[in-house]
Amino acid sequence: MPMPKIAVIISTTRASRFADIPAGWITGLARARGDVEVELVDLRDYPLPFFDEPASNAYVPSTHEAARRWQRKVAEFDGYIFVTAEYNRGISGVLKNALDYAYPEWNRKPAACLGYGSVGGARAIEQLRLNCVELQMAPTRNGVHIQGVDFFEALQNHKPLADIPFIEQNAVTMLDELYWWTQALKTARAA
Ligand SMILES: Cc1cc2nc3c(=O)[nH]c(=O)nc-3n(C[C@H](O)[C@H](O)[C@H](O)COP(=O)(O)O)c2cc1C
Repeated sequence: MPMPKIAVIISTTRASRFADIPAGWITGLARARGDVEVELVDLRDYPLPFFDEPASNAYVPSTHEAARRWQRKVAEFDGYIFVTAEYNRGISGVLKNALDYAYPEWNRKPAACLGYGSVGGARAIEQLRLNCVELQMAPTRNGVHIQGVDFFEALQNHKPLADIPFIEQNAVTMLDELYWWTQALKTARAA
């Protein structure tokens, strides 16, 4: 069986976003394992109209080429790491829209979450996990949260994420769980 493919999805698109820092960091750790292929997927590269289709593509093929292009990209992967901010205690609108624009492509695949913000994106991630359940995904228990003083130090003073105590261990635990589910579900989908 070919090596599983994981997408690290950057979920905010504003010009001065912080997202690139945690996305680059977790991508490096994921690639260092060597047992999966890891691709950084930036929602900036997949601009989508606000949902504008007759129905979810669970039921009706999408009409917009941008939607079909996004669905083809999502379909390439066996698992996902969402790198997510918290906007008013939820995920960004652009991420929710991107989730809505695919359906079978997400099904029966695992999702792990790395959040950042005052409480490490925890409130956004809890909502995101619920969205994942509806998309028939397997959200992992373990996540990574860049929070509190650590978040503000990283955001404002460019403190390296590697200097935050325990965070790399959290990431390794999350990646271990994600890869277990990735292998298990890839095998099950192929059967
Ligand atoms: C519209 C908006 C809403 C926000 N709401 C929250 C919030 O509910 N909780 C939080 O911890 N941070 C919140 N923040 C601060 C973000 O954590 C911070 O700006 C972060 O850098 C946003 O991610 P980004 O830089 O990738 O866009 C908010 C920021 C924006 C722009």
